[in-house]
Amino acid sequence: MPDNKTFSGAAGERMYDTKGKLIQAHGGQIQKFTVNGTKRWYWIGEDKTDGYRPCGGIHMYSSSDLFQWKDEGVILRTMDTIEDFMLPYFKQTYGDLDRIEQKRLFVDLDRQNCVIERPKIIYNKKTGKYVIWFHADGRCPGSEGDYGKAKAGVAIADSPTGNFRFLGSYKLNYHNDPTADYGFDGWENRGSVRDMNLFLDKDDTAYIIYSSEGNRTTYISKLNDAYTALAAERDTAREGIDFTRNFIGAYKEAHAMFHYKNKYYLIQSGCTGWSPNPASYAVADCPMGPWKEMGDPCPDVGKETTYDSQSACVIPVEEENGIYVYMGDRWNEQDLADSRYVWLPIQFFPDSRIALPRMENWTFN
Ligand code: DGJ
Repeated sequence: MPDNKTFSGAAGERMYDTKGKLIQAHGGQIQKFTVNGTKRWYWIGEDKTDGYRPCGGIHMYSSSDLFQWKDEGVILRTMDTIEDFMLPYFKQTYGDLDRIEQKRLFVDLDRQNCVIERPKIIYNKKTGKYVIWFHADGRCPGSEGDYGKAKAGVAIADSPTGNFRFLGSYKLNYHNDPTADYGFDGWENRGSVRDMNLFLDKDDTAYIIYSSEGNRTTYISKLNDAYTALAAERDTAREGIDFTRNFIGAYKEAHAMFHYKNKYYLIQSGCTGWSPNPASYAVADCPMGPWKEMGDPCPDVGKETTYDSQSACVIPVEEENGIYVYMGDRWNEQDLADSRYVWLPIQFFPDSRIALPRMENWTFN
């Protein structure tokens, strides 16, 4: 159990790494990995050092106690120009790529135009690779909006601290009915991905959870054995088996799934840009649902904004003892680099109910 230091919680004090620099790991995720025999916590997230853009890529920190965070650097780097593929770092990471391949990857790594949000990482025991998925968006040929591309990006590495090699970005599963309501995406943009998260189940099956159909609907799709693609081809995937559609028309974002005592939980936010809104949660017997909606997990004053936060992930600190921590982002739209992190303990009650109490300067005891 981490020692008796305090988390600032709803106070959202700034968090610094061990060198005294502001932690840049927004929209993130924290979990334990054993690397070379040593167990540590790894915190992955968006680097917003320069605000929204230039896009800073994906940052990693590590810790033995959840309090002191060592900077492990930017593990998925973005580029100024396509010629950056010639720089030593990118040569080492990508080798010699032909121009077509460079162009394909550059669209999602072009720091002046790309958007990289909500990166998540899982370890694949079979392949020995760490796999990152993220919301890959931004301006690109044919789409001038920041969120018109709406794809999922994938990158792999042999270590959680990189270097991560970006493999590509993809549209994901879609509901196969051209007459259905796809929100602002429309049928042409089917399979769109915006806010997303990953979930690795005890049986080693991995899932991607994502807002789709113009953010109207939450999809949960199975990944393949390597965790680098969908389990079933997009055009032949079976709804209800390879993927499910959940909370149809409910406009949810900021998905944070976790497992506790034979139940799966999913905390989400509504869709109001960088402004906070009330959280909701749901409970299921399987990661793909069906999900039972349970309402707002926040009981205290400030619940209408989730205490000025938006869910990023839930940290399974000690599953066997029911110690789980909600990690939310307190976005600062005027100065995204100074967005804060709000960590709160999750309380479990009978009938699979949970609560996120409003707490400041709290400890595990
Ligand atoms: C809400 C999402 O949850 C964030 O990740 C980000 O995409 C903002 N919207 C942008 O407005």
